[in-house]
Amino acid sequence: MSQMKEIINPFYKKTISEPSKSRKIDKPKRGNSLKKLLDVESIEHHIGASVDQVLELKKGYLNKKFLLRSAGSHYVLKIYRDNLSFVSPRLSSEGRAQAEYQALQICQANKLRAPRPVGLFGKAVLMTHIYGKDLTDLPLSKGFISLIVSWLIKFHSIELSSDLLNIGVVNAPLLGASRHLRKYISNNPSYSLAREVEELLIDASHSFSFPNSMVLLCGDPTIDNWIIKEKQIYGLDFEFFSPGNSIFEIGLLLASILDYSKFTEAAYELSEYALRQYLMYNSSISLMDIRLGILCGLILIATNVPNPERCHRIFNYTRKTLMWIKNIRGIA
Ligand SMILES: Nc1ncnc2c1ncn2[C@@H]1O[C@H](COP(=O)(O)OP(=O)(O)OP(=O)(O)O)[C@@H](O)[C@H]1O
Ligand SMILES: [Mg+2]
Repeated sequence: MSQMKEIINPFYKKTISEPSKSRKIDKPKRGNSLKKLLDVESIEHHIGASVDQVLELKKGYLNKKFLLRSAGSHYVLKIYRDNLSFVSPRLSSEGRAQAEYQALQICQANKLRAPRPVGLFGKAVLMTHIYGKDLTDLPLSKGFISLIVSWLIKFHSIELSSDLLNIGVVNAPLLGASRHLRKYISNNPSYSLAREVEELLIDASHSFSFPNSMVLLCGDPTIDNWIIKEKQIYGLDFEFFSPGNSIFEIGLLLASILDYSKFTEAAYELSEYALRQYLMYNSSISLMDIRLGILCGLILIATNVPNPERCHRIFNYTRKTLMWIKNIRGIA
């Protein structure tokens, strides 16, 4: 364990829960509830070496992640929680595992920095561990934004072959945002700000021009899905990747920058910087469409995270953000 601690420090102090006896699983025993989740024998069989140690990575909202050490190498095993199957089979745990695995393969084939996919085990994906720093542990800067946008541009430039088109649009963000918001409103009926945001969404979707800018979306480019290693950026978290309209991906990134930096003036500046960088690659996107993309992004972030204070802040700044987008100069 001391060796593992050495390996995970200092970068993972925040991301890995301190391995207590119950957390550290040398080999899940028969009857152990983790045994059902973690089929270590299959993994060992697949990589041809024994797994010496397993640590649970920081708890998220949706999935479970484990850090595995085997023969001196580190892997991440991501196990997808099954709570979205009701939306579509593509969003079942197996569907998301398959999508993430495929996206990681696509990154490899296109020389995009991301974990290397090692194995697909039903509802789990084994990938290499990127030994770097989470972007969320660093102050956000124009330099990092440039790295993210360049990465995204490269991903969006991947040719949409017919088999990629067949993956199907998983969860059109516009539908997703309005469905999430409806559910949120029905759970919080007296919260008038959420209803105002819904009106803004209806209004913005009326002016959406449905431009023909279908690209391969990585699915979740929010600030918490990037790792910095040796001044390079690595993308993570592709379970929602699918063909789609690029305005939603760039909109989600801009919304995430604003949310992450709490809507300060500096956050708006960084967000505008990201937008201008992206528009250098695709100048045919209109500000009205970006407006819808960012609005969907804000709604998805606000309603996905069970944090009332953060959600309130996002809804509170939604109108201002839409005004801000409208008034950005030099963009059609
Ligand atoms: N291959 C990897 N290398 C290094 N760190 C990783 C890797 N995969 C995941 N992580 C760490 O785990 C975190 C969560 O992983 P990921 O984004 O893939 O899961 P998630 O779908 O966001 O999970 P949840 O929705 O439950 O939060 C990342 O932000 C990163 O800190
Ligand atoms: Mg993530």
